[in-house]
Amino acid sequence: MAEGASDRHSPLHTPVVATVTGDGKASQRIMVLRAIDQGHRRMRFHTDFRGSKVAEIRHGGTVSVLGYHPEAKVQLRLSGTATVQSAGPEADAAWQKASLYGQRCYLADPAPGSPVDAPTSGLDRAIQGVKPTPEQVRPARANFAILLVEVQTIEWLYLAHQGHRRALFNWDEAASRWDGSWLVP
Ligand SMILES: Cc1cc2nc3c(=O)[nH]c(=O)nc-3n(C[C@H](O)[C@H](O)[C@H](O)COP(=O)(O)O)c2cc1C
Repeated sequence: MAEGASDRHSPLHTPVVATVTGDGKASQRIMVLRAIDQGHRRMRFHTDFRGSKVAEIRHGGTVSVLGYHPEAKVQLRLSGTATVQSAGPEADAAWQKASLYGQRCYLADPAPGSPVDAPTSGLDRAIQGVKPTPEQVRPARANFAILLVEVQTIEWLYLAHQGHRRALFNWDEAASRWDGSWLVP
């Protein structure tokens, strides 16, 4: 996953992030993995604060992150609790590091997921197809948030001709260490 965060060509750069909706349904979407903090077992994603996944996370906070690396033949299924921060030093730093094009995504009006009468990017015509200025993207900061996932379980599946292998790692909070065990694939 660390490779996924640092290498945008890695298949682990865009894992599936799953949440549970308020009425108990599974909800998934692809997200760009922005950073990994192995010491704190944390993954960082960026999103629009007004999106439905934010509401879902604020409702329960349980998420599952799924990635597959075809060359390594490894599937990683991680689960844990998520928090969303729209303010604070970490969100500010992530916003500062984002490109103007990246920041522009958060200017959609009305909010992402809003029903509209015709196909639209949600962006004003003046900033479509051109590099926006810092002044133009400034209002987007209010819609930007970081999504932090604290990982509690990691399931590793390795595909091999002679027989697959599967392992489960659970974070033991009291002992402050990962407990690993083998599973039948
Ligand atoms: C390659 C790819 C990367 C994406 N990256 C992000 C991302 O980093 N953050 C994000 O909020 N949505 C991202 N999306 C869009 C989401 O998959 C999703 O459509 C959108 O966030 C709305 O999700 P929601 O209604 O569940 O909140 C990406 C989609 C694709 C196809």
